[in-house]
Amino acid sequence: MTTVISPGFKSLSIWFGLACLALLAVPAKSSSNGNCRCLSTEPCWPSSEAFATLEAKLSQPLLAPQQLAKPCYTSPASDECQAAQQQWENGWWRSNNPLSAGGTEHPNWATYVAPDGHIEACYLNTTLGHPCVQGSIPAVGVDARSVGDIQLAVNFAVAHNLRVVVKNTGHDYLGRSTARGAFLIWTHHLKDITYHDTFKPFGASNGTVYHDAITLGSGVQWQEAYDAVFAKGRNIVGGIAPGASVGAAGGWLQGGGHSILSPQHGLGVDNVLEMTVVTSDGKYHVVNAHQEPDLFWALRGGGGGTWGVVVSVTYQTHPSEAILTAFFMASPDTSTPGGAQAADASFRALFTELVRVTPAMTDAGWAGYAILEPNVTTAQLGLRFAYVAPASATGAQGVMQDFFAAARRLTSGALSVQIASVAAMPSFGDWETKYVRGTSGQVGESIEVGSRLLPRDLLVRDHAAVADAVLGLQPAFTGVYLVAGGAVSKVDPDSAAVNPAWRDALVHLFFAKGWAEGASFDVINAVRGQIKAGEAALHALTPGGGTYFNEASLYEPNFQRTFWGSHYDRLRAIKKQYDPVSLFVVPEGVGSEDWDADLNCRL
Ligand SMILES: *[C@@H]1O[C@H](CO)[C@@H](O)[C@H](O)[C@H]1NC(C)=O
Ligand SMILES: *[C@@H]1O[C@H](CO)[C@@H](O)[C@H](O)[C@H]1NC(C)=O
Ligand SMILES: *[C@@H]1O[C@H](CO)[C@@H](O)[C@H](O)[C@H]1NC(C)=O
Repeated sequence: MTTVISPGFKSLSIWFGLACLALLAVPAKSSSNGNCRCLSTEPCWPSSEAFATLEAKLSQPLLAPQQLAKPCYTSPASDECQAAQQQWENGWWRSNNPLSAGGTEHPNWATYVAPDGHIEACYLNTTLGHPCVQGSIPAVGVDARSVGDIQLAVNFAVAHNLRVVVKNTGHDYLGRSTARGAFLIWTHHLKDITYHDTFKPFGASNGTVYHDAITLGSGVQWQEAYDAVFAKGRNIVGGIAPGASVGAAGGWLQGGGHSILSPQHGLGVDNVLEMTVVTSDGKYHVVNAHQEPDLFWALRGGGGGTWGVVVSVTYQTHPSEAILTAFFMASPDTSTPGGAQAADASFRALFTELVRVTPAMTDAGWAGYAILEPNVTTAQLGLRFAYVAPASATGAQGVMQDFFAAARRLTSGALSVQIASVAAMPSFGDWETKYVRGTSGQVGESIEVGSRLLPRDLLVRDHAAVADAVLGLQPAFTGVYLVAGGAVSKVDPDSAAVNPAWRDALVHLFFAKGWAEGASFDVINAVRGQIKAGEAALHALTPGGGTYFNEASLYEPNFQRTFWGSHYDRLRAIKKQYDPVSLFVVPEGVGSEDWDADLNCRL
């Protein structure tokens, strides 16, 4: 993992997430079974004449997506291969790549790992001795530039019973935007951005007017959205990840959408005024609180790739204001007389103190990302965080300086504090520009993740148990994300489909573990075992709790309850109404329990 925040926080490599599937897949069944989707490997796959007829009606040629590293096998000296080698961990290069119709952000989702251990991949490292094969990259895709293109693609997929995947950027921690043998609807080039001084939702009464809203096409990425909003002197609740290449109107939003601004302004789904979407019957819908409110509700947290192909989203923006920004970095100091044991004790005391003061931090206006990650050289676990607060939050300085003082007291034991600073900045836009965009990392590596929402009352009641459980995880990366509480907890839990557990939470706990290119099935399974063990520990810590659909494990035993709690039954009913043919199915998505493990055959 190269998610290293360089000393001084010149770059802020923070994880964030969305997803795709493949790892639970089993070999394709033969096509004669009417309960199964027709895959590209099967005789039922549409003929070239059928594809040509479709292509003639589309605005763009059909796509034949390839593996991102393929040029290094077919023409190793080419610019394309050199670009792959240089840009492998650049989210923009991956998401924009025309060769692969924007690959997946994590290569493991482009890889097919069969249950029997057989692996189909295309590794960047050509000397590993594996052939470059299609793996879980779809066979054919539509480069959708209009509602008409999307409707043609959807109607074609239904007519030919194809497995459909929808992708804008391919950022997805569960592989939800790709699948082996599938037909891709790529929304990446729906890049329209419209700023509205006043906005009246379709179907609303004349008196219903919002100010300073922005409509984003579903291919718009966060950096593009931020540019448009900051240019107006405004803020928007959006994703924070290196390079800001995550899609602003795709899976991030449909799964809930957390942000460093969420404690101040709510989740992404709490900031939506209207969405447009094409459903599996080919119909185009404008949905909002006044028009098809059930579908609008489901799209706000019910999960990406499940309801239809989103065309655009209209968000409320917020006034910009001055902020405080805090950075902290510390690690155990094993050079002290007490050695490793004293260092571990000091580090545990430090992290336990951070968990203890987290409710007070939130109340004082702080939000952001704390990360536990082993030092790449020493393998010793370090703690760092990047938080922001409105400059108007009067208690913010005091609570942060108290924490810094507690950390400094621990340095008399066996702790090394490298950074502990608070500074003023004119706006969130300045912070995002300085620390987020232009950075790379987080992508280009094979990882799986797990997560849990930590309720406020648990942190207040038993912070030591929380700290022990988090330190007991064995992943390469643990994010203790302070992205809930505040405004998130003031919203009516039933106003959007997103998990009601968000409304009681303070922290979204996220952990990840990866493997090197070419890793064997046994190595991959060992990582999965660690993810499952971490999940079990977090379930024990928060019985009956929930987590975030976009950043979660593929092994949730009761994903319906864990992702949606009491909202699941209503979501299932809306799914039956709007997608009766079940065209849109993703791993652990609403209705996916009707399908087998690879989501190609109905049970
Ligand atoms: C590529 O794989 C070979 C064989 O395992 C290994 O020796 C080499 O270090 C790898 N190269 C890179 C850049 O990882
Ligand atoms: C709303 O405004 C439109 C355009 O100004 C007008 O034609 C319409 O009659 C108004 N509707 C109501 C219910 O006032
Ligand atoms: C990792 O450890 C090395 C050796 O102690 C140190 O020089 C380096 O600054 C550490 N890196 C981080 C990111 O803390």
